Amino acid sequence: MPAGPQTDNTSLPLKLALRRKLLAPFAESHELRVMDCCAGGRRIWTALRKEFPVKSYIAFDKKRLPGTLRVDSARWIRQVGLLGNVIDVDTYGEPWPQYFAALEAAWPGPQILVFLTLGMGLGTLGKISKAVLKAAGLKPHWHNRLPPASLQLRDIFLSYCLTRGCDNGTIITEAWEASPAGSETRYFGLRLRRRKHASAVRKKAAPTTAGPQRKGADRG
Ligand SMILES: C[S@@+](CC[C@H](N)C(=O)[O-])C[C@H]1O[C@@H](n2cnc3c(N)ncnc32)[C@H](O)[C@@H]1O
Repeated sequence: MPAGPQTDNTSLPLKLALRRKLLAPFAESHELRVMDCCAGGRRIWTALRKEFPVKSYIAFDKKRLPGTLRVDSARWIRQVGLLGNVIDVDTYGEPWPQYFAALEAAWPGPQILVFLTLGMGLGTLGKISKAVLKAAGLKPHWHNRLPPASLQLRDIFLSYCLTRGCDNGTIITEAWEASPAGSETRYFGLRLRRRKHASAVRKKAAPTTAGPQRKGADRG
């Protein structure tokens, strides 16, 4: 994202396009139950609810906002569980706490959609989080050994984070990525399926280019 004050949804059309790509086929065989984990001004889901038949919608935000549960959504998922099959994590920094919690939670069915915004958090906040190190198979004490986080480190750890679910039997069956022009922010849309029998499968994600791009299918 270019330097300057953060504004919600500077790239709203791109975020919507990414979501539509996955929602349209998913909605043919699933009731949409949405957890908007970083709801903010709800611009994404205000638009999408006009286009898709959303059976249930629940909004979370750390900030006090009308009609929104004021709570850390990662903590909610860890402690309460998943209340939907469409998990939207449109944060400013790292979406990994919510994503990892969703991967470890019980799911309402065998498939879910997840939308992630990977912002500049890791590039500006200093150390790489212990959760990210764990996803890459590193011990927590590396937290203090690695240099301060950078975009390069963010992207090295990215594929470990995205494929973390493979460790506990989750397959990424469809993945799309988009990135606003001139921005380091990356958007991901994933369709995930849970296998009955776990086996670790790790595969590196392709590099980013602007516009929603298909990243791969049936990885398991
Ligand atoms: C980019 S804005 C979201 C914009 C929103 N998706 C929309 O459609 O208008 C990011 C929001 O995520 C919230 N947020 C960040 N981390 C969070 C967390 N762990 N739990 C809940 N909300 C969080 C912030 O307070 C902020 O309002």
